[in-house]
Amino acid sequence: MTLYSERIGGTTLNQGLSERLARELGEMRDRGVLKTLRHIEGPQSAVIRLEGFGEVVNLCSNNYVGLCDEPSVMQAVRDGVDRYGAGTSSVRFICGTFTVHRELEEGIADFLGTEASITYTSCWNANEGLFAPVLGEEDVLISDALNHASIIDGIRLCKAQRKIYRHMDMDHLREVLEASRDARHRLVITDGVFSMEGEIAPLPEIRELCDRFDAIMVIDDSHATGVLGETGRGTPEHFGMHGEVDIVTSTLGKALGGMAGGFIASTRDLCDYLTQVSRTQLFTNALPPHSACGALAAIRHLESHPELVSKLKANTDYFRERLLELGYRPIEGDTPIVPVIIGETSDAIALSNQLLAEGVFVIGFGFPVVPKGEARIRCQISASHEREHLDRALDALKKVGGELGLI
Ligand SMILES: Cc1ncc(COP(=O)(O)O)c(C=O)c1O
Repeated sequence: MTLYSERIGGTTLNQGLSERLARELGEMRDRGVLKTLRHIEGPQSAVIRLEGFGEVVNLCSNNYVGLCDEPSVMQAVRDGVDRYGAGTSSVRFICGTFTVHRELEEGIADFLGTEASITYTSCWNANEGLFAPVLGEEDVLISDALNHASIIDGIRLCKAQRKIYRHMDMDHLREVLEASRDARHRLVITDGVFSMEGEIAPLPEIRELCDRFDAIMVIDDSHATGVLGETGRGTPEHFGMHGEVDIVTSTLGKALGGMAGGFIASTRDLCDYLTQVSRTQLFTNALPPHSACGALAAIRHLESHPELVSKLKANTDYFRERLLELGYRPIEGDTPIVPVIIGETSDAIALSNQLLAEGVFVIGFGFPVVPKGEARIRCQISASHEREHLDRALDALKKVGGELGLI
């Protein structure tokens, strides 16, 4: 049988565009920077089965506290399908929303110590849907230079004046805030944890500056929710500032079960306002209800198992210490994101490929994801790792790092 895709054979795509795409893909291949998608044959876990490679230790997922294959989370997803069916079939204000969305939104608000929350199909959508509705031309939106791409795109959709402060530079932030005194609102947005560096944003200083200049403080805590603080409540808990950030955006697609979804947690009024006017709320389907069930179960599980967060911290400390002993110089930090700068993109990709051949899955990142010349491998630690998994990974890093002259 001929597949439809074979029959049309690409003839429907404009020839000039087809030729350009093929040429650019070829150039990426020649420069050794073409990304290869690896196919996982089972659930995300400490050890996964990769098509063509068999079992490998997994050092590149955001499954920080191991909830992707947690039985109670998986069961909640199954039960969610039985109870709510497969999907939402339209947007919330038209065809109704599901009771589990309300329960999840209450659960998120309780977990983060906010009055309310509102869910989206992803944190990308949450970040895209936040700024444009609440800020206009008379406002100033102030962003850390290394904020996540979804924040940058959200800012692009907003008519407020844009100002960028140097990465985590509080003197520069103060200058920018001072120069924005006359605006109606000033809003400062930062990643809580910067995913390529594993650095934690200086929330106490940002809070102080926001108070001094009457600015709105927003964090995207996607890499900290479920991860940082004694009980996984994120960067604010890490700093003893639980409930003290004006607006928190975050994902349900990483530590909290890793399905999909994102949210904005803040006051009831802000969430109600977004329900009325946020475009990625109004014009796209809600989170699939079974994902909402899984995310809620993930929050409940974490609430009753704070030891997962302690185990994650112990695993991270162990891995960082052993890595230093081997002679690697990872970027310092307190998060389970452990990046090791290699330099050239092609070298980082070569290291990642050799580690995979040794049974360790760790991804290499290069430009444009990180600045030119700062390509890296990024090891991500999970509470699902046992010492033997980390030791296996460290043995491979020792062997391959020695062969490539990196240590
Ligand atoms: C800081 C940050 N914000 C937002 C996102 C997007 O999250 P989601 O997958 O829920 O769209 C990511 C994902 O990589 C992220 O790291």
